[in-house]
Amino acid sequence: MDLSSVFASSMLLLLQLCIRSLQLCIRSLHYFLASLYSKICDWRAGVCRATISPPPTHSKLEENKVQDSTTPTSVNYHFTRKCNYKCGFCFHTAKTSFVLPLDEAKRGLSLLKDAGMEKINFSGGEPFLHDKGDFLGKLVQFCRLELQLPSISIVSNGSMIKESWFQKYGDYLDILAISCDSFNEETNQLIGRAQGKKSHLDNLYKICSWCQQYKVAFKINSVINTFNVDEDMTESITWLNPVRWKVFQCLLIEGENAGEEALREAERFVISEEQFQEFLDRHSSVSCLVPESNEKMRNSYLILDEYMRFLDCREGRKDPSKSILDVGVKEAICFSGFDEKMFLKRGGKYVWSKADMKLEW
Ligand SMILES: C[S@@+](CC[C@H](N)C(=O)[O-])C[C@H]1O[C@@H](n2cnc3c(N)ncnc32)[C@H](O)[C@@H]1O
Ligand code: SF4
Repeated sequence: MDLSSVFASSMLLLLQLCIRSLQLCIRSLHYFLASLYSKICDWRAGVCRATISPPPTHSKLEENKVQDSTTPTSVNYHFTRKCNYKCGFCFHTAKTSFVLPLDEAKRGLSLLKDAGMEKINFSGGEPFLHDKGDFLGKLVQFCRLELQLPSISIVSNGSMIKESWFQKYGDYLDILAISCDSFNEETNQLIGRAQGKKSHLDNLYKICSWCQQYKVAFKINSVINTFNVDEDMTESITWLNPVRWKVFQCLLIEGENAGEEALREAERFVISEEQFQEFLDRHSSVSCLVPESNEKMRNSYLILDEYMRFLDCREGRKDPSKSILDVGVKEAICFSGFDEKMFLKRGGKYVWSKADMKLEW
């Protein structure tokens, strides 16, 4: 091999080395830019999208379900689905009989407190059914004494409440809401808002007076439907004098009270916007009335089911998140479907501690 060919092949080798190094540089630069770009995208999409990477098969619709971080200021914990009533329109039905062990429920409530919860509402199913109301009482006591929450409330059909419960736990409770859809006993029977032939209204009046006696703020919830839409409840509500009268337009939820898999068929209970408005107009003199149309109600509640999963109602069903006990509040709440603006618009934030209500007991 002569000198010129040795020189040529060395130059070729050097050139190849240069090209290789250049390629490596370009690849590193490309990788750096790509990771920088993805970090910027994550940052712009907010905390939730940065911490939960959706599986590659996620559709646009599913991606849209992931929402920015929300504070769970006011939470509704439906710890049981079992109930002794058979309201035909019920949208939280006995699909399971599961109830968390008390310590796990307390752990979940502590996680919620750490995440910013100020108000807890216990609901169901019928919350006074499990352990004859003692499970509920212990949670109420825990939320007041250990977590020191500003507001603790319960929604109940009222049929299982005993005076001894007030004696034991009444001090720790701010608000007790009793559901009553009619002041006509026959209508309650037709709706299924009753256990056998027992009077729903007798319980309502009895509990109203216990609330007064044991210093618990008394509230009423009514679902307006085809059976009670023409009723005038002004006189009875005025007499009972609740701190708040929540008036709901009967809502359909697929898989609960509508559709093939549902345990209830509530279509025959549904009323129009106009019918709902007529009911509200008839009761315009009742100052404690708080109306909730389907639109206001659907996504404005943070709902936790019996496994402590948030339920997202945006698709007209109750789609569960993962449990806060498994993934924490911050991750689970991204899939809650909660509409905070609507929560504020419907008056979800109000004077909710009995100490601040200035009631005459
Ligand atoms: C599911 S219940 C559970 C608590 C308790 N069993 C009771 O009836 O009060 C909670 C609240 O949701 C209301 N509700 C039930 N089904 C409804 C529906 N389809 N539309 C609007 N509100 C409904 C009830 O009247 C009650 O005030
Ligand atoms: S709405 Fe009626 S059936 Fe449903 S949980 Fe309450 S009392 Fe039971």
